[in-house]
Amino acid sequence: MHRNHNHTTILTIEKVIDETPTVRTLVFSDQVMSDALPGQFAMVWIPGVNELPMSIMISKESGKAAFTVRKHGPASTGLFNVKVGEQIGVRGPYGNSFDLKEGKLLLVGGGTGLVPMMRLLTFVKSTDDVTVLIGAKSKNEVFFEDLTNDLLADVTHRVVVSTDDGSYGKPGFVTDLVEKLVREIHFDGVYTCGPEIMMSKTVKSAHSQGVFVQASLERMMKCGVGICGSCCVGEDLVCRDGTVFDGEHLATNKEFGYFHRNKAGILKNIKFD
Ligand SMILES: Cc1cc2nc3c(=O)[nH]c(=O)nc-3n(C[C@H](O)[C@H](O)[C@H](O)COP(=O)(O)OP(=O)(O)OC[C@H]3O[C@@H](n4cnc5c(N)ncnc54)[C@H](O)[C@@H]3O)c2cc1C
Ligand code: FES
Repeated sequence: MHRNHNHTTILTIEKVIDETPTVRTLVFSDQVMSDALPGQFAMVWIPGVNELPMSIMISKESGKAAFTVRKHGPASTGLFNVKVGEQIGVRGPYGNSFDLKEGKLLLVGGGTGLVPMMRLLTFVKSTDDVTVLIGAKSKNEVFFEDLTNDLLADVTHRVVVSTDDGSYGKPGFVTDLVEKLVREIHFDGVYTCGPEIMMSKTVKSAHSQGVFVQASLERMMKCGVGICGSCCVGEDLVCRDGTVFDGEHLATNKEFGYFHRNKAGILKNIKFD
C-alpha cells in the first residue's frame, strides 16, 4: 500500500549496536527507509521526548534501515536510550540526494556525518576508485572504518582515518589531507558530511581546484518540510532545498561555514576551533 511520507509510521527497534560509548545504531524493518537515497533524512519521533532529524543509515539486511545517533541533548539522548522492542515514529524520507559521479571519488566524513556517506558507498561502481577520509577528534570516537572497507570490498579503494589528537591513524585535521589530495589528484566528485568547519574547508579546497563537490548540511529543524523556516542557511532551507548543496552554490552562500541559527532563530557564529 502507498504510504504518505508526511504521516508518522510507528516502527519497532530490532537491534541496537554500540559504535562508541556515545554513538549507537538502532536497526528496524522498513522498506521505505531502506530504499532512501544517499543524503536523505527522516524526522524521528521519540514518544514523550521530541522529534528530531536523522540521516537514514543503511542496514546489511534487506528491507531494514537504521539511525546512528550521538548522545547529545535531551532529544538525541532519548533516542540513544531506546531499547530493543521499543517503538519510535518516522516520517520521510525528506530532502534531495547526492549526485554521484563516476571515476575517482573522494568522500570526507566526520562523526554521524558518515551516515549518508555509508549509503552513498552502496551506489559506487566496481570501476570507480574511491578514497574515504574519516576525521575524528580521537581514537575512541572513530567508527564505521570496518564497515567502509566492507562496503568497498570489490572496489579499488583506500580508507584513511585521521584524528585531531593523533591517537589513531594520521595525526591532524582531515581537511589538511583534503587540501593535499585535491591538489595532487583530479577527482571526478568530492562528497562531504560532518562538522560544518570540516565541510566548509573541504568545499573551498575542492571548489578552488574546479572539482565538483557536494556537502550535506545540518541546521536546526522543526518541521522538516519547508514550513517553519528554522533550517534556513542564507536564502536556502536545508530541509526543502537540500540537505545536499553543490560547492558552486555554497560559494555564494554568506552563512555556510560562518553562521547558524540557534533554537530561537538567532544568528550565531560557528566556532572555528
Ligand atoms: C538533516 C540532519 C540529519 C542529521 N542526522 C543525524 C544523525 O544521523 N545522527 C545524529 O546523531 N544526529 C543527526 N543530526 C543532528 C540531530 O538531529 C541533532 O543532534 C539533534 O536534533 C539535537 O539533539 P539534541 O538532543 O541536542 O536536541 P535538543 O537539545 O533536545 O533539541 C530539541 C530539538 O531541537 C532541534 N535540534 C536541536 N539541535 C539540532 C541540530 N543540530 N540539528 C537539527 N535539529 C536540532 C530538534 O528538532 C530537536 O529535537 C542530524 C541533523 C540534521 C539536520
Ligand atoms: S525545518 Fe522547518 S523549514 Fe526546514
